[in-house]
Amino acid sequence: MTGLTLSSSSAAALRADAVVVGVAKGPKGPRLAPGAESVDDAFGGKLAAVLDTLGATGAEGEAVKVPAPSGVKAALVLAVGLGEAPEDDVYDAEALRRAAGVAARTLSGVKKAAFALPVGTAEQVEAVGTGAVLGAYTFTAFRTERSDSGRKPLGEAALVGAKARDKAVKAALERALTVAEEMNRARDLINTPSNELTPSLFAAQVQAAAKQYGLKVEVLDEKALAKGGYGGLIGVGRGSATPPRLVRVAYTHSKTARTLAFVGKGITYDSGGISLKPAGHNETMKCDMSGAAAVFAAVVAAARLGLQVNVTGWLALAENMPGGDATRPGDVLRMYGGRTVEVLNTDAEGRLVLADAITRASEESPDAIVDVATLTGAMVLALGTERFGIMANDDDFRAEVHATALAEGEDSWPMPLPQQLRKSFDSSVADIANMGVRMGGGLIAGLFLREFVGEGITWAHLDIAGPAFYEGTPYGYTPKGGTGSAVRTLVALARRTAEGELFAR
Ligand code: BES
Ligand code: ZN
Ligand code: ZN
Repeated sequence: MTGLTLSSSSAAALRADAVVVGVAKGPKGPRLAPGAESVDDAFGGKLAAVLDTLGATGAEGEAVKVPAPSGVKAALVLAVGLGEAPEDDVYDAEALRRAAGVAARTLSGVKKAAFALPVGTAEQVEAVGTGAVLGAYTFTAFRTERSDSGRKPLGEAALVGAKARDKAVKAALERALTVAEEMNRARDLINTPSNELTPSLFAAQVQAAAKQYGLKVEVLDEKALAKGGYGGLIGVGRGSATPPRLVRVAYTHSKTARTLAFVGKGITYDSGGISLKPAGHNETMKCDMSGAAAVFAAVVAAARLGLQVNVTGWLALAENMPGGDATRPGDVLRMYGGRTVEVLNTDAEGRLVLADAITRASEESPDAIVDVATLTGAMVLALGTERFGIMANDDDFRAEVHATALAEGEDSWPMPLPQQLRKSFDSSVADIANMGVRMGGGLIAGLFLREFVGEGITWAHLDIAGPAFYEGTPYGYTPKGGTGSAVRTLVALARRTAEGELFAR
């Protein structure tokens, strides 16, 4: 795991293996960002010119290595691109996160690096710290010692030039480390193949973390689920040899009554069930528990940060398989709470397990419910692979969630829940069907979930099917595989609630 520290020595004087500086696109070629001064001095003020000669432009994603001159303790200088130079020289948080991410990934295998990026404010410290820990992430759990393809992540990122004694700066660093580590926890869970992460193994991991961080945890196994009438979870899980679980994991703070409920879709593998997915659509479906991973990580982060808010996580865990006892298209399920759903397509399973969990979460009357799910291919078609969709039963809350996500560097977009689409999932035999018309499929899934939200409870739904799992070439702080999408938004919602910005009474 990558360590994060603050150092009060200069970038040039710090004992490290490499020193990272920022370079931006200026009007007359590459321009050094604040923080690089002592390193530039060691180059006789010519570092920008050297970088220019080497072909560096300051574009986002760029990483150029230069041997360090005498006067710099580290052997290597790494210049990372920050994109267009801002007129006021105040770099935006996301540009810093991404550049720090590129630096950390480029420096895998290195023990210690000095990060001499702009860190004048607590916000910038948080951004650079977050980017560094996220960018250093690698998933090597399934590589053997014989394989040399997994280099060790960067050991330590030392931020130089920050106000190391400032309380707000220290808190920002702590937050960066905690949230990034918890995002990396979510990434690990998502990347773990389904044969190693069944519903019960997932539940066991939550139990272990709960013990470590003093959380309250309850696990309903298949017997308890059947007895309790959780028809959605049972119906989805019954085609699999590994039975479903509903996990409730709660962080409570003694000084507040404000409570958020986070509900996560936790399909440890989605084959589609009897409505089997075709080849080409199932290779990455171990990622279908990304919502549950995000919820779990966010609850742990809230606890580690000691936020003054109660956060209850609900993980709806099941494996969707086409076994001999599987739910058939046409079957009717009796959901938790008694409503009946005709299953027209067993591949629309996420909404079934979430419906049970949302109904159950509603019984505790939280101030709000936020569910997170890799719910529909339609949302990927609508928004692409880097943005999640936000739906809600309250326009103001949807706007707050969107603003919160944006400030955290999580791309997202508000989506509607059009009432006209509601009748498309009327059923001729049950209360409703689990599928409606094809067009607007992401919104129909949202409308379906809304039916299960308790009367008067504020609710938002994040469809992270696009950004949860990244298959392209790594960029910024985004690796291949699980990304940890929505963790930062959930933690920030909890923090804003703790600070009285949301749900103040
Ligand atoms: N897990 C999938 C959605 C998904 C697609 C996640 C791509 C990540 C990437 C979900 O369970 C699903 O299969 N949804 C169906 C619903 C349809 C049958 C109504 C879909 O989107 O096609
Ligand atoms: Zn599915
Ligand atoms: Zn699914």
